[in-house]
Amino acid sequence: MFTNIFDTHAHYHDRQFDGDRDTLLAELPSAGIFRVVNCGTDTSTSRTCCEYADQYDYIYAACGVHPHDCGAAEEDWEETLRELLSHKKSVAVGEIGLDYQYDFSPRETQKRFFERQLQLAKELDLPVIIHDREAHADTWELLQKYAPKGVVHCFSGSVEMARDVVDLGMYIGLGGAVTFKNARKPVEVAKFVPEDRLLLETDCPYMAPVPYRGKRCDSRLIPCAAELIAQVRGTDPQTLIDRTTENAKTLFQIH
Ligand code: NI
Repeated sequence: MFTNIFDTHAHYHDRQFDGDRDTLLAELPSAGIFRVVNCGTDTSTSRTCCEYADQYDYIYAACGVHPHDCGAAEEDWEETLRELLSHKKSVAVGEIGLDYQYDFSPRETQKRFFERQLQLAKELDLPVIIHDREAHADTWELLQKYAPKGVVHCFSGSVEMARDVVDLGMYIGLGGAVTFKNARKPVEVAKFVPEDRLLLETDCPYMAPVPYRGKRCDSRLIPCAAELIAQVRGTDPQTLIDRTTENAKTLFQIH
């Protein structure tokens, strides 16, 4: 069994966990899960993330408005977000970014929310957790402009783009997607990322790795991705897990 696992990106507030959330969250530490950063997607789920952080020692919160949700944000979202980010276990502004694959919110709105939250992270000296789906050019433009501390989660770009992100001082988050059949680019990125810039994540309940693809994911499935990434990097999974946990502790200032 693997230990010391740091899941840097989870959504345990998702309704897919409604039936057994308390049992599952109580069990994770005994399954080798050391820390979890649970990421909000709007002000309401960000508040829930803070509540879980109050309830469970090993859970920390990221608070932010996701590109899918910014179109429906209430007028005083920023004030609420500031309040939530002042929580003692709020460790990042996230999940924020751009999503041009689904376009659930108008692109101009997505860009405005993304930029405002990048500014907020700078002001509060917090790292960001970035979602970039089919929006590499616009995401990169804003990342270059603000050079935030943080991670591009579920990294889906090329090695060249990963190099740019790393050169900017940011981290690359990898998870279940590296195990998918068509995962040529993520596997190349997994090989490339310098060992001090790699983070592991689930994005649960989504992105369950092979052989659980399509099922509900949780932090216990991190080893599936870790095994594959360790293999392509020529190391063993526990060494990789330990290293990425150190990286996550550094980025999120968690001990
Ligand atoms: Ni996510």
